[in-house]
Amino acid sequence: MSRIKKVAILTNGGDCPGLNAVIRAVVHTAVSGLGAKVLGVLDGFSGLIEDRIRPLKLSGVSGILPRGGTILGTSNRDNPYRYPLRDSTGKTTFEDRSATAVKTLRSRRVDALIAVGGDGTQAIASRLYTEHQVPVVGIPKTIDNDLDGTDITFGFDTALNIATDAIDILHSTAESHHRTMIIEVMGRYAGWIALESGLAGGGDVILIPEIPFTMEKVVEKIQRRQRQGKRFSLVVVAEGAREKGRKLVVKRKVSDPNDPKRLGGISRAIGARIEEMTGIETRYTILGHLQRGGSPTPFDRILASRFGYHSVMAAERGEFGHMVGLRGTEIRTTPLAEAIASPRRVRPDSDLIRTARAVGTSFGDPD
Ligand code: F6P
Repeated sequence: MSRIKKVAILTNGGDCPGLNAVIRAVVHTAVSGLGAKVLGVLDGFSGLIEDRIRPLKLSGVSGILPRGGTILGTSNRDNPYRYPLRDSTGKTTFEDRSATAVKTLRSRRVDALIAVGGDGTQAIASRLYTEHQVPVVGIPKTIDNDLDGTDITFGFDTALNIATDAIDILHSTAESHHRTMIIEVMGRYAGWIALESGLAGGGDVILIPEIPFTMEKVVEKIQRRQRQGKRFSLVVVAEGAREKGRKLVVKRKVSDPNDPKRLGGISRAIGARIEEMTGIETRYTILGHLQRGGSPTPFDRILASRFGYHSVMAAERGEFGHMVGLRGTEIRTTPLAEAIASPRRVRPDSDLIRTARAVGTSFGDPD
């Protein structure tokens, strides 16, 4: 007899490809494997606070595997510990509504909550577990790949493919027009998308948050290529890359209690300076949310399905307060508190960086 009779699942934080594959796997495992019922919480944690929940049946997850986004909706603003409330004048204040979220779960007799999200979501899940003993299991998702406790998050592979395709597309115009083309990718404070797409797409310069750069070194690389008869260059820059001695380029501030900063726009500033310093015509492209949508790659569909299946099995074993993750080729669980202790960022001495340098990539640093 299964100990889990009712599972609730929510998707929280920025969407990414593979969320529907997770939902499908959770429903199949819980319903067919354990004979349990599944509830889908709408729009992340706000659905728990506002009791917006609907039953999820096998028929409801049919055909969703290849679809991007999440059929449950999501939010990257609604933290139950700092829940935004707007008054009639439009002013926003924040309140701790965690007890309301817990009450919803208890009144609906939920035995296990599956929380699918990035660092912010897992931090909330961890608090709900330690402060309210909520029986929660986390699943790591984000295109940024910046969560510890897993070698890779689902969503990252699809974003990487999209970014690499974009570099390949820009390559031909760079070459035909003898230009410098800059492509700016997402990733927040981690350089995984820029590093791996830059390596896969043959970026001449890759700029990531973990390695501060100088414009002199960026330009030196472009001019060296010119002297070698290579009249074009490709620069891949992470939105969170930082020029030595300068601040992050922030596009806007939003009411996200986890991190109000939205990065973006660094490629424009770099492009203008390259043109000024070299006289070479330069263009920039900001890939933006194109990286977060569309159909997941087979890798992400498989990883998301494995995470979904293993999260329900972890709940069945009573491993609450843990997050599933990929370790090598195996799925393992890690305590949530450990997974959120520090973000997973690119190590400047890692093999990926050494390989990129070996094939001639500049990181805009002295090496
Ligand atoms: O965390 C995922 C991510 O896409 C980041 O790479 C990016 O900085 C941020 O979310 C953008 O957030 P929003 O969708 O709120 O603009």
